[in-house]
Amino acid sequence: MGVAKAWRFSMIAPNLALLQQQNGAFSYGNGHKHECWRWRSSASQRRSISWSLLCGLMLFGLGLISLFTGHVASHLEWYSQRLVNRSLYSKLQGDRREAIGIWKSKYSKDYYGCSERGPKFAPALHERASNGYLLIAASGGLNQQRTGITDAVVVAWILNATLVVPELDHHSYWKDNSDFVNVFDVNWFISSLAKDITIVKRVPDKVMRSMEKPPYTMRVPRKSTPEYYLDQVLPILLRRRVVQLTKFDYRLANNLDEELQKLRCRVNYHSLRFTKPIRELGENLVMRMRKMAKRFIAVHLRFEPDMLAFSGCYYGGGEKERSELAEIRKRWVTLPDLSPDGERKRGKCPLTPHEVGLMLRALGFANDTYLYIASGEIYGGEGTLRPLRALFPNFYTKEMLANEELKPFLPFSSRLAAIDYIVCDESDVFVTNNNGNMAKILAGRRRYMGHKRTIRPNAKKLSTLFMARHQMDWETFSKKVKSCQRGFMGEPDEMRPGRGEFHEFPYSCVCEKPFSNDERSKDESNHPHQEQVDEDLVSKHVEVIQDEKSFLKKRSIGGPVILGDNVNDEFFSD
Ligand SMILES: *[C@@H]1O[C@H](CO)[C@@H](O)[C@H](O)[C@H]1NC(C)=O
Ligand SMILES: *[C@@H]1O[C@H](CO)[C@@H](O)[C@H](O)[C@H]1NC(C)=O
Ligand SMILES: *[C@@H]1O[C@H](CO)[C@@H](O)[C@H](O)[C@H]1NC(C)=O
Repeated sequence: MGVAKAWRFSMIAPNLALLQQQNGAFSYGNGHKHECWRWRSSASQRRSISWSLLCGLMLFGLGLISLFTGHVASHLEWYSQRLVNRSLYSKLQGDRREAIGIWKSKYSKDYYGCSERGPKFAPALHERASNGYLLIAASGGLNQQRTGITDAVVVAWILNATLVVPELDHHSYWKDNSDFVNVFDVNWFISSLAKDITIVKRVPDKVMRSMEKPPYTMRVPRKSTPEYYLDQVLPILLRRRVVQLTKFDYRLANNLDEELQKLRCRVNYHSLRFTKPIRELGENLVMRMRKMAKRFIAVHLRFEPDMLAFSGCYYGGGEKERSELAEIRKRWVTLPDLSPDGERKRGKCPLTPHEVGLMLRALGFANDTYLYIASGEIYGGEGTLRPLRALFPNFYTKEMLANEELKPFLPFSSRLAAIDYIVCDESDVFVTNNNGNMAKILAGRRRYMGHKRTIRPNAKKLSTLFMARHQMDWETFSKKVKSCQRGFMGEPDEMRPGRGEFHEFPYSCVCEKPFSNDERSKDESNHPHQEQVDEDLVSKHVEVIQDEKSFLKKRSIGGPVILGDNVNDEFFSD
């Protein structure tokens, strides 16, 4: 509790709120910065129109620039377009600012996961009609292998190959001897994908006997395109009938045709389910959490010694930590010398459990919130977790919730990770201290499953804030954390389609529900500012307005890059 007490929780709140009102909604600290936000504040209508004009001009300029510079400018263009869209919004909607619910995005219901196969998508070929058998050796931990298996299905489709159930990696850092059938429901995997590709459990003996040489083994470069597979792998497959691709992780390009992306989603979100014993235990743990609390947060902590050593960061454990981590670091001969402070400033250090707790409390989660902690080994063990427990006394792990039932799983790190995966997936809020495979995959899955609240720490900004936190009171800290976290809360609109890794943001598989008339009229009656809309401006955008409204209706606040900085207020509510 000592840690929590260090903060003066609510004493200063009323004063600050007052101060804020006097300063105008968006100007704490510095009234002159961030002018582009003005249009949303209560400045005059005129000003807001001139801002949209200016932003329009900016957009035009950027458009011109992008003719020459392409990529970089196109991102700028996107954000400035958003600005214009938003200023239209402010006129349509009035000056209302909306709060983000910390537990749930109110826009989540406007989207749904969509990954049905298109009518033109070529169906599975029968084993005998296929071009041969594709063997896959996945690589890495459970979630890295998951991306590999997902891509394996897509590659098999591209090659018109029969896929043999992939082999799991037994030699990764996680050292788990489990096979596919021990972790995933193999019959479901085969049957649920039957329309897309043919999957068999093994290459038939007859084929094996007829082969003159052992299966051809190759490793394709990371992120190879479908064309690469057609040019380089297909001829070998046709010649040899059986090809094995090894170390199969991230071997297929991130951006693919829409239909192939949807296939990825069908595999990842529907066909790859865990075996029954894993699912049952996972569901039981979820039920036990729900019995205690209506809603809970799952925190995925990666804080293994190896990972910390690899990061090159310093986590506050003094000389002992420095020498221990330095010792582990020797294992990798090629690691460069990193400056721990530099890495921290660049946002490269995973948050400590304590920092995760501080972030959550600052965002507004009360101390009686229930936490489920998903983790492997934690460097420093109980001592490292204590400050987090002090902030959130209702603290649970799978070991605490299960008893004997966990025993059969204990020797298998992948199966344990699978249990955590299920509880994290089902949680109301999911937060991680890292940007690893599990964090990304679950973030993507939760978007697909209805944008369940998923919080990524904005490590770059938070790290500076954590370093300076003893120089401010709790209220200020809390406000700053909220402002850092805008654009990192798992809101439906916070990432640009096509950016980031597909399994983290499966944009091809997230559809927007049509905007109903019903909602529209309700919406209009709510906004008296409607009449004041500048007709000229609107008619210029006349063809987009209807879309705009549905689009903007869903946009509450905050872009991650240009827009979101340093804006304080009550954007996070309960
Ligand atoms: C702005 O609105 C237009 C029209 O609805 C839309 O096509 C465009 O994607 C929007 N831009 C951004 C950056 O959201
Ligand atoms: C795969 O089969 C389809 C017909 O089912 C055919 O159109 C396509 O060209 C084939 N592709 C390859 C790589 O064999
Ligand atoms: C939670 O915070 C309240 C004050 O907001 C305090 O009275 C209470 O003792 C705290 N509970 C725990 C378990 O720390």
